[in-house]
Amino acid sequence: MTNLRSFAAAACGLAAAFLLAGCERPPVESTQTGYRGTGIVQVVNPRIAAANAALHAAPATTPAAPAEGPKARDVYQNVKVLGDLSVAEFSRHMVAITEWVSPQEGCNYCHNPANLADDSKYTKVVSRRMIEMTQHLNVNWKDHVANTGVTCYTCHRGQPVPSNVWFNPVVETPRIFIGDDAGQNKVATQAGLSSLPYDPFTPYLEQEAPIRVGGPTALPTGNRASTKQAEFTYSLMIHMSSALGVNCTFCHNTRNFATWEDAPPQRLSAYHGIRMARDVNNAYIEPLAPVFPAHRLGAGGDAAKANCATCHQGANKPLFGAQMAKDYSGLTALAQALAAGSTLPPPLAEAMRSVMYFDTGSATLHGEQAKGLAQLIATMTATPAATATISGYHSASGELAANQELAKQRAFTVRDALLAAGIAEQRVVLDKPLQTEANIAGEDPVARRVEVTVK
Ligand code: HEC
Ligand code: HEC
Ligand code: HEC
Ligand code: HEC
Repeated sequence: MTNLRSFAAAACGLAAAFLLAGCERPPVESTQTGYRGTGIVQVVNPRIAAANAALHAAPATTPAAPAEGPKARDVYQNVKVLGDLSVAEFSRHMVAITEWVSPQEGCNYCHNPANLADDSKYTKVVSRRMIEMTQHLNVNWKDHVANTGVTCYTCHRGQPVPSNVWFNPVVETPRIFIGDDAGQNKVATQAGLSSLPYDPFTPYLEQEAPIRVGGPTALPTGNRASTKQAEFTYSLMIHMSSALGVNCTFCHNTRNFATWEDAPPQRLSAYHGIRMARDVNNAYIEPLAPVFPAHRLGAGGDAAKANCATCHQGANKPLFGAQMAKDYSGLTALAQALAAGSTLPPPLAEAMRSVMYFDTGSATLHGEQAKGLAQLIATMTATPAATATISGYHSASGELAANQELAKQRAFTVRDALLAAGIAEQRVVLDKPLQTEANIAGEDPVARRVEVTVK
């Protein structure tokens, strides 16, 4: 009897201990990150953190190679964005890039082994533009990436295709009874398995749909934002929270989600992060769609784009703030324009077509190029019935908005010269090309041009 009772007691005790241990395995850590009483705390489960430690560990970097000696652009044949590095440092960058992007495949993932200068593999063309993108992020988006910066590893983590990318969803033709699903009624993996709209990326990380939906008054007076819009905002917010492995109070004082005054400073970092993601997707990744093979594209023909998770992968700072970029000078300064005095191609001056080339960052024509312009004026004067249609272009190096303006100014230079030479205004037409960027990456003299058709 006693034996049985003590056995039962022991069994109960064991079960209780087991249950309690189940609750407490291991206790979660909660850190206060805002004012007392505001509930601004972050909760971390050490077990999950330990399981993900390897994902967030930065790989070791090799010591910098000597910066002296001949430059890569003088030794190699086809170096457009890393030309300023010494040959030794250039090679070190190639080794690092291989380790970050294609460790299994090696150099030949991007290179034709018979000729390293050859651009026939799309992966090399994409990489050249990715180098420029990384430079741009480290130089022009300090508001977001600060001194932590980014390298290829931030997104790629040893894989050619980063683990977190997204495509534009293909909108199915509305079915008769169901109609447009407004992005809902599907399990939204993008939004933490909620039933919120499943594509918060196209409107906010590619387009610029308004995110702020709250009204300033208790009653809905004057606030035109709908419940549906608010659901899209929440979908984005859940993506941002899960991408960073944080809860809403990492960025908000939940007393009032809209207020900025007593919100944690991370709210502002996130604000810049949203704009930066748009810039990455619009200026760099989307224009590469024609370069990617079909099997890399989404159902709608778009390239795989970045969101917060592409870099963060569940950490509040990618790789918990490990500063890898500072050790790679090729990724922390903008590609220098080709050596000064680089030769422009001769201007083209045919009866029906003229092309004039410009120096880096310039909208004026000198020397040979000015002679090409004079030739165009002569042709226009000699054929009074002809109209000149002028289009300006720029190279891929530098900031897109500034470059588009430059392409326009180049077209204006030619137009103004024709008008100044007495050509009637109605015979001079400006035609903005669909794409003013005339090459994929780097500073290519052939790209910096104005084309004129004379008909
Ligand atoms: C992920 C893509 C990628 C990988 C992997 C890669 N490279 Fe490159 N490589 C490039 C790009 C892009 C350029 C052009 C850089 C530029 O335009 O500034 C380049 C250029 C070169 C050049 C200059 C060739 C010339 O004459 O123009 C050499 C040499 C080179 N790489 C060697 C290597 C070696 C060796 C490896 C392996 C350790 C390697 N690369 C791995 C992308 C890659
Ligand atoms: C902001 C994140 C990000 C950074 C930083 C980044 N990439 Fe990418 N990369 C992407 C995305 C997104 C794609 C598109 C995925 C695909 O190929 O479908 C991509 C694609 C590529 C591809 C094509 C791979 C394939 O198999 O199709 C190469 C090669 C590449 N990147 C090289 C680089 C190199 C080299 C660097 C560093 C100089 C770099 N990337 C930095 C996000 C990034
Ligand atoms: C990483 C920071 C961050 C996290 C985490 C975050 N938010 Fe936000 N939230 C922002 C930023 C930044 C804005 C403003 C965006 C803008 O104006 O471009 C915003 C805007 C909002 C708005 C609109 C406010 C207005 O002015 O109308 C709501 C509502 C909101 N967040 C709710 C949430 C909820 C709910 C969560 C948790 C599921 C959350 N947020 C998590 C940064 C964050
Ligand atoms: C190109 C890579 C990249 C992308 C994409 C990116 N981030 Fe970041 N983010 C970083 C880096 C690097 C840091 C670290 C900056 C630092 O050290 O302060 C950072 C820091 C932050 C911080 C500050 C964290 C802290 O602990 O102070 C917030 C908040 C943040 N990111 C939100 C976002 C949101 C939201 C998005 C998507 C809209 C986003 N990020 C997209 C690279 C990225």
